[in-house]
Amino acid sequence: MTRPTPRSTESGLPVDPVLGPEALAGWNPAEKLGAPGSYPFTRGVYPTMYTGRPWTMRQYAGFGTAAESNARYRQLIEHGTHGLSVAFDLPTQMGHDSDADLASGEVGRVGVAVDSVEDMKVLFDGIPLGEVSTSMTINAPAALLLLLYQLVAEEQGVAAEHLTGTIQNDVLKEYVARGTYIFPPKPSLRLTADIFQYCRREVPRWNTISISGYHMAEAGASPVQEIAFTLANGIEYVRTAVAAGMDVDDFAPRLSFFFVSRTTLLEEVAKFRAARRIWARVMKEDFGARNPKSQMLRFHTQTAGVQLTAQQPEVNLARVTVQGLAAVLGGTQSLHTNSFDEAIALPTAKAARLALRTQQVLAYETDVTATVDPFAGSYVMESLTDDVEAAVLELMDEVEGRGGAVAAIEQGFQKAEIERNAYRIARETEAGERVVVGVNRFRIEEEEPYEPLRVDPTIEARQRERLERLRAERDRAAVESALTALRKAAAGTTENVLAPMKEALRARATVGEVCEALREVWGSHVPTEAF
Ligand code: 3HC
Repeated sequence: MTRPTPRSTESGLPVDPVLGPEALAGWNPAEKLGAPGSYPFTRGVYPTMYTGRPWTMRQYAGFGTAAESNARYRQLIEHGTHGLSVAFDLPTQMGHDSDADLASGEVGRVGVAVDSVEDMKVLFDGIPLGEVSTSMTINAPAALLLLLYQLVAEEQGVAAEHLTGTIQNDVLKEYVARGTYIFPPKPSLRLTADIFQYCRREVPRWNTISISGYHMAEAGASPVQEIAFTLANGIEYVRTAVAAGMDVDDFAPRLSFFFVSRTTLLEEVAKFRAARRIWARVMKEDFGARNPKSQMLRFHTQTAGVQLTAQQPEVNLARVTVQGLAAVLGGTQSLHTNSFDEAIALPTAKAARLALRTQQVLAYETDVTATVDPFAGSYVMESLTDDVEAAVLELMDEVEGRGGAVAAIEQGFQKAEIERNAYRIARETEAGERVVVGVNRFRIEEEEPYEPLRVDPTIEARQRERLERLRAERDRAAVESALTALRKAAAGTTENVLAPMKEALRARATVGEVCEALREVWGSHVPTEAF
């Protein structure tokens, strides 16, 4: 039998299609693997992983007004979700109020509209914040949403030290992919360091950042690029906090990460294992972290939305199952499984429930939670993990050689590399070299009609009315004086801006007004054109 041609992986790494005796001779992985829950954590961050408790099932959701999203969160909790994950609309993510000209047509569309502490109260109405962990996908205005969450918790009588959750707070990847940045890199990194210091003092169980590779992957990054550019961003954040005077073990245990899981399961599992090993070494050897929690790469995973198709949408159920399995075999701490109809429109309630049920089948009907890191010792997995690790380290060195992540971003390096890979994927798909079931093979001519979820068109008008009422009823002088104090802190270099920011939000200053006050002091980021 002629040997099949070696296939390359998404990252262009060779995979030996036939593991002959010669490949396995002398194969002894024990010496480098280590134990689960121990440095360098290749096999997982906890000794028992899912044998003790499954990963957190954390479905990303949010649309329309706070009341609509609150209803969806209650539904998800009823269906058994473990943690909440809030999607915000673009005006909120970009620091604009729902009645700003720039907000028109976007209010409540890709997530929930939050303008003030009043909206935040409605968003979490009836949800005990001392008993849930909440992730908030918010970057440039992350400090504001954390403080609004804390203000609502205070009104529920929940002290900050009991709050658990995560703010994404990763602006560096926004300059590379997705683009929801506000301020230039320097003040953005100052704000990130302020959040690290504030949380260490006030909200110690809060995960201060979710350093994300997901959006770069969705923009076309290969697994190696996803990990290399994300860890390089992580190094930039650690350097910033250390430069601001923090000891690495004071903030590193609360750093977290966010990656994609693709249908190429073997490479994805190798990718997660390599990422843990690299981060552990960087933290211990480059930054001198002594606390094992500082060396653990804890991460959330979302299945690859970009691999879902609008054609034959039910086929996406199979894709999401494989992708979810890849995340679990890779040792994720928290997981979002995409809804099968997401390539068409916002998920219907039924599709969102099916996505959660997929995780519940993986957790409670399969045996993949019976042991830790099931692939350990497998020749293909250990050699792939080594190969991915080597390729990631090489690319991280290239970013370092350009002056680190921020300098490379300003040169347009990461963006150009990702766009080059995205073009390769598109070309392979177009040529049929890359099979997409239902799209370039196994097509059906007449697609059955699918009734997507429709977003209520009156959302924007109702949200504007809420804002008018808020502005009419609040103490205007108190808002002005709080915003002035915030501008003063932002103009200085020593005061943590979150304290005056919290007082402004408590006085019912809006998200847009607080961000505008900071724009007046820090300016807005203007992107360099990569091409
Ligand atoms: N042994 C011992 N302890 C264990 C354990 C085990 N096997 N399993 C869990 N635990 C403990 C943990 O130590 C932790 O305790 P601690 O809080 O005191 O440290 C507790 O149980 C909770 O476990 P985890 O921290 O592992 O799980 P969480 O779910 O709480 O946190 C995370 C996971 C990754 C650290 C956190 O940052 C997180 O939840 N991230 C989610 C991010 C997210 O949802 N992002 C959505 C992005 S969507 C987006 O960007 C837009 C879209 O377009 C993609």
